[in-house]
Amino acid sequence: MLLTVNPVQPECDVIRQAAKVIRRGGLVAFPTETVYGLAADALNPEAVSRIFAAKERPFFDPIIVHIARIEDLLLVARDLPPQVDILSRRFWPGPLTLILPRADALSTRVTAGLDTVAVRMPDHPVALALIRAAETPIGAPSANLFSHVSPTTAQHVLDDLGDRVELILDGGPTRIGIESTVLDLSGDRPTILRPGGVSREMLESVLGEVALAGDTNQGGEKTGLASPGLMERHYSPNAELLLFQGPEYKVLAAMKERLDELLSAEKTVGVLASSEDRAVFEGYPVIIEDLGSRKNPSRIATRLYAAMRALDVRGVDVILARGFGNTGLELAIENRLSKAAGSQVIEVH
Ligand code: TXA
Ligand code: MG
Repeated sequence: MLLTVNPVQPECDVIRQAAKVIRRGGLVAFPTETVYGLAADALNPEAVSRIFAAKERPFFDPIIVHIARIEDLLLVARDLPPQVDILSRRFWPGPLTLILPRADALSTRVTAGLDTVAVRMPDHPVALALIRAAETPIGAPSANLFSHVSPTTAQHVLDDLGDRVELILDGGPTRIGIESTVLDLSGDRPTILRPGGVSREMLESVLGEVALAGDTNQGGEKTGLASPGLMERHYSPNAELLLFQGPEYKVLAAMKERLDELLSAEKTVGVLASSEDRAVFEGYPVIIEDLGSRKNPSRIATRLYAAMRALDVRGVDVILARGFGNTGLELAIENRLSKAAGSQVIEVH
């Protein structure tokens, strides 16, 4: 069932109904500021198992626990590292997930057997009201089928999960549009496992140097293992995505060349274009999804997944995209594009 909810001042009766489903061990899809989540009572292992079943998610991929009050951190985590205080004050509620030592009482079903737990406080009135009314921390991955693009509208959730979810709360499109930053505080130094809405620069302004998992440009050594859920080709549309990186003039030429080849091979082609690049592709028989200006990366992030899904709906075989860069929010956008591209990142020199 789909229920509309006011995203600014959620109706009490709607929240109460959703909280009841959670307390019974059922599943509710709900909006956060990043993407829609698929919620279950994090302290009920059977309820958490239903999340994995609905998403067809492998049991080795751990789930983020969502809290609404800082005190509740101690229900799920222990031995809090000193950085938690300043990070939670600065960035919670908000798109920052912290990896912390797991509280003994928390079921390892949520953490996929790990000794650590992922926790965040979402910045969305509906999410916060739901967690408070359910009176329990809520385990919630993105509300999509495993390995598919995360949902930024209730319709996306419906398209992916349909009646596998008892209740979908429709609070309109999500604001940020890509998933939270995952920051590992369980090791020797803070490490970003997944870039997101809180940028590396924002974290560094508070913590000093922050490592980036998989980054080889920092003294040669690879920093730690990537997050267990962050395998190649994760945030994928159905179409094949080709991501071009390099200097603008060379990349656009390479994209046009590839486009000619694809069109001669009678492929249906979609382009994820910034409004700056759009004119380059307008003369071609391609489907253009305009993400907006490169000068406004937060708008690009907001639209990215909906644009990928829209191209899938149009049945394109191949999606072409030009990279956005590696600072600020652009790092998160680039990360999602390169995951969607799998190994098909084309570097033009
Ligand atoms: O913005 C978000 O974070 C959204 C909304 C719904 O809150 N949630 C989300 O959840 O993106 P999910 O399950 O799609 O992604 C969670 C990521 C996965 O890559 C998972 O591997 C990682 O967090 N993760 C969870 N627990 C972890 C842990 N203990 N150690 C390392 N990584 C962990
Ligand atoms: Mg996900």
